[in-house]
Amino acid sequence: MTIVFRLKGFEQDCFEIRYAAGVLMRGGLVAFPTETVYGLGALVWDEGAVSKIFQVKGRPSDNPLIVHVSSIEMVEKVASRIPEDAYKLMEKAWPGPLTIVLPKSERVPRIVTAGLDTVAVRMPSHPVALSLIRETGEPVAAPSANPSGKPSPTSGTHVVRDLIGRVEVVLDAGETLYGVESTVVNIVTEPPVLLRPGAIPVEEVEKILGRKILIPEFAKGLGQVEKPLAPGMKYRHYAPEAKLVLVEPSSYTRECLKALAEYIKTQALAGSNGKPCILATLETLQHYSGVGAETFTLGSRENPFEIARNLFTILRKVDEEGCSIVYAEGFPDQGLGLTIMNRLRKAASEKHLINC
Ligand code: TXA
Ligand code: MG
Repeated sequence: MTIVFRLKGFEQDCFEIRYAAGVLMRGGLVAFPTETVYGLGALVWDEGAVSKIFQVKGRPSDNPLIVHVSSIEMVEKVASRIPEDAYKLMEKAWPGPLTIVLPKSERVPRIVTAGLDTVAVRMPSHPVALSLIRETGEPVAAPSANPSGKPSPTSGTHVVRDLIGRVEVVLDAGETLYGVESTVVNIVTEPPVLLRPGAIPVEEVEKILGRKILIPEFAKGLGQVEKPLAPGMKYRHYAPEAKLVLVEPSSYTRECLKALAEYIKTQALAGSNGKPCILATLETLQHYSGVGAETFTLGSRENPFEIARNLFTILRKVDEEGCSIVYAEGFPDQGLGLTIMNRLRKAASEKHLINC
């Protein structure tokens, strides 16, 4: 049985948080909101509880989990060494959507890190997440609270739909702020490497570090992933049931955006059976009228925060609306654009490039 707590006027040490912390301490699973997406949490030291996370999600056992903390002392419990750069990042970017990969301490069960000798750690800024971890008094291992391969949940409603009956507690605090997962950086390597672009742009992390971070092809959602480096990135991810076709123009000038929309329009019109849908932006929306495809607007290209925030919600919506094929426009690989493109490329079954 799942207890769903709807948290509106949230208070730090309310009954719901104390109850959920008790469930974690006794080896149960709790789905909780963070500022990025909802997480599915277990006590980090409890191998049995952590293995339930893998079962409930249908997650491959070689894909490690992020450990969530509410203090630096908790980081010291799960990491064997904390380099100076990590302190810099923790001071400036935490609590917030940055995950730091550090050398793992012996105490962290191997199942959490999928056998790696590193551990990924982050301090979320969502007040519900922070007080849940504080109340538990121990770090909480948590992947995104979606069945493996599906778009991450950005609202309590998504979580309830996906996990009802499979976890002990869902803490529902409505929609999340960023709507996209944290940025994952490995600072154990020289130079530091971006393992997953996320809610904090990699350029901002570079500014805090005062040096460059290597951006491998797989972080863009391209090429082959080196498994030991970033296990999670090798899987197809975030995909709706509908077939997603990503169309990338060679540049993002006005003319190119027009050519991009024309191309998508032709494709959608020529489409075979089923219902074609289009993920448009405010800048291209007008081109799609009269195409006979259902159009969803991600937001304005001037505001990538909004586009990132709407992406997973709309990827779920296209399935609810029965789309059979979805055409998505590309975005420049910079700032949050890199994050958006990583998710779109990993969700796509087909990628089309157009020269303009
Ligand atoms: O925003 C987020 O990060 C959300 C919320 C719940 O905190 N969590 C999340 O977890 O997105 P998950 O499990 O869906 O993604 C974790 C990513 C995966 O790509 C995984 O491979 C990578 O982090 N990861 C975890 N531990 C790692 C490690 N030791 N080395 C390299 N990559 C690691
Ligand atoms: Mg995930």
